[in-house]
Amino acid sequence: MNNFIFQNPVRIIFGKGVIAELPAHIPAGSKILMTCGGGSIRANGVYDQVKKALSGFQVLEFWGIEPNPRYETCMKAVEICRREKITFLLSVGGGSVLDATKFISLAAFYTKGDPWDLCSKGATVPQTIPLGSVITLPATGSEMNFNAVISRDSTHEKLALADPKAYPVFSIMDPEVTFSLPERQSINGIVDAFVHVCEQYMTYPVNAPLQDRQAEAVLHTLVEEGPKVLKNPKDYDARANIMWAATHALNFIMACGVPQDWSTHMIGHEITALHGLDHAQTLACVLLGVFKHQKKEKGAKLAQYGRRIWGIAPGPDAAEKAIDQTETFFRSLGMKTHLKEYGVGTENFEKIASRIQDRGMKLGEHANIGKKEILEILNLSL
Ligand code: NZQ
Ligand code: ZN
Repeated sequence: MNNFIFQNPVRIIFGKGVIAELPAHIPAGSKILMTCGGGSIRANGVYDQVKKALSGFQVLEFWGIEPNPRYETCMKAVEICRREKITFLLSVGGGSVLDATKFISLAAFYTKGDPWDLCSKGATVPQTIPLGSVITLPATGSEMNFNAVISRDSTHEKLALADPKAYPVFSIMDPEVTFSLPERQSINGIVDAFVHVCEQYMTYPVNAPLQDRQAEAVLHTLVEEGPKVLKNPKDYDARANIMWAATHALNFIMACGVPQDWSTHMIGHEITALHGLDHAQTLACVLLGVFKHQKKEKGAKLAQYGRRIWGIAPGPDAAEKAIDQTETFFRSLGMKTHLKEYGVGTENFEKIASRIQDRGMKLGEHANIGKKEILEILNLSL
């Protein structure tokens, strides 16, 4: 096992009716900016629950954070935070609202340049506006990690920041709020969480059996419970299991001491930036491309995954069968697995591969995926 440091300070408040507990977790006297998306929380009653819980606080609202949240939108909220001297941010929505809120929390105190530096240069800040979340979509794990992914319109870029200062103080997780998810978002969430596990697990063995089984526990749960939420969107237990599994898929406990490979996400973000596909839609296609391309490097783990998750017998074609089974699973959920099914062709492949190369990155757990290999992976994902 490799050396590691692990610390995760997020307080999780999980279960039925827990939005009512909000006031206990926000400092008395806070001036709150509540950050929201396009309106799903009005339709499903979450907004009313939050407003009721916050009746003793001074609350301003910021609406209109879009899926794949835009830097330009975030900066409008930053203005409000500075002008109104906001002391607490409350994100109420999916991963996009929460990621935007993390960015706002940092950007409000970034005054030595363009806050886009937080994403493009790994810049940080001396202090932040503390933030909490009411998460309404199980997918990103953003509720228990310090990542945020922000898109910039003017340059068609989508970049991640990772800063421990961006951890939420708490996340409120009521599985009932996910009953209202459109099927497409439920599918996206299951696939996103599945791919998060793969990016931390499908590398090479380092004799870390606990982390392997933590990863496999999440995969098993997604495979068993995912179809249940699609069949019966109001199945509380299945929703709760998916919600908790998605959090575990990206709170980085399973990443402790093991190699990681975030190729699928790095390539997928570029496809969203240039073609507008949902995050998880890109991942389903690219993950299979990465697996096929790296079948030899990832062979031992693919075979282990195939055996433990899908019951595939050991043998020379075990890795191949595990990849096929992954595709069958995605398709059984209703997720497409080829870029061309979304009308994406090769038109931007060169640009995607060059952009990643220009950031000085080599992808993969062996840092063996450069421009040429990215192009090959994209062609395998078509
Ligand atoms: O905007 P509203 O009206 O709220 O509607 C949203 C949105 O249209 C809707 N929705 C959310 N909760 C709902 C609901 N509709 C009905 N009932 C509910 N309970 O769903 C739509 C999608 O929401 P969004 O927040 O965009 O989805 P998700 O949570 O999948 O977040 C995707 C974003 O997270 C980033 C992605 O790149 C993408 O930008 N990621 C963030 C990560 C992180 N912070 O660690 C890691 C991930 O890999 C990912 O990159
Ligand atoms: Zn993801």
